[in-house]
Amino acid sequence: MEHASPVGITPRFAGPLQVRPLSPALGAEIIGIDLREALGDAVFTQILAAWHRHLVILLRDQKLSEEDEVRFGARFGPPALVQNKQFQRTHPGVMLISNIREDGKPIGALPDGEMQFHTDQCYMERPAMASMLYAIEVPRSGGNTMFANGYSAYETLPEEVKHRIAGRRALNAYDYDNAATIRGATVRDNAPSYAHPVVRTHPATGRKALYVNRLMTRHIEGMAPHESEELLNLLFAHQERPEFVYEHVWQPGDLLMWDNRCALHARTDFSPNERRLMRRVTILGEKPV
Ligand code: SIN
Repeated sequence: MEHASPVGITPRFAGPLQVRPLSPALGAEIIGIDLREALGDAVFTQILAAWHRHLVILLRDQKLSEEDEVRFGARFGPPALVQNKQFQRTHPGVMLISNIREDGKPIGALPDGEMQFHTDQCYMERPAMASMLYAIEVPRSGGNTMFANGYSAYETLPEEVKHRIAGRRALNAYDYDNAATIRGATVRDNAPSYAHPVVRTHPATGRKALYVNRLMTRHIEGMAPHESEELLNLLFAHQERPEFVYEHVWQPGDLLMWDNRCALHARTDFSPNERRLMRRVTILGEKPV
């Protein structure tokens, strides 16, 4: 005899999860889940394990309301409040990322073109643990999101470099406005900034990941400027090597969730004449150690 399911939890979600790796670098597609429906604990435990293993998870063909997206995100941790209120949606944790303009003004944050590798909110004391993007409209080409594996980047560093960065902290600053391809050497006086370990340990997996990024890391504390710059450039070039990267070509209905504690992301250029509309939820993380 079949056991009754709790209300709103579909029996077909019981059993092993179908997980299909997206690339040798990182990422996996989770198949057969409709996030409009509540997930049972056994299924969520498998999703969490897949996320920890693959760093980025993809669920395709979703038809999600803001509430559905927030409900799924909240299984991982508390949704962070949107800082830029002009792009906030009904729920205080939901924001648009878009190049669409109404009356000449963008309706979303991070509107245009290419963005260099970064991790979300690394300039805050408690950066985002996870970020979720849900694709509503996508360009015919470009506007892809690239992900780099921070564990692989750290683990493959020469021992001499690991030694140079051991115990070091680096200053991360939010100082790029919309020009998300430019990394300045200096930091504007009132720019939000925070120094975090160059190598952080993931609280769930116990693995070490390289935690600097080309867009927002300014300098390594306690090093002469030229030495810090030389070392950072070496680290950026290393962590962005193609073998550590997966490039996601979006389709409407894709929901991607990545782990900012061990994966970086970047965006490829796209035509300003093409519409791109994404809904984003970020999940508050812990202070990196
Ligand atoms: C982001 O950096 O959060 C946005 C990435 C994207 O638009 O692909």
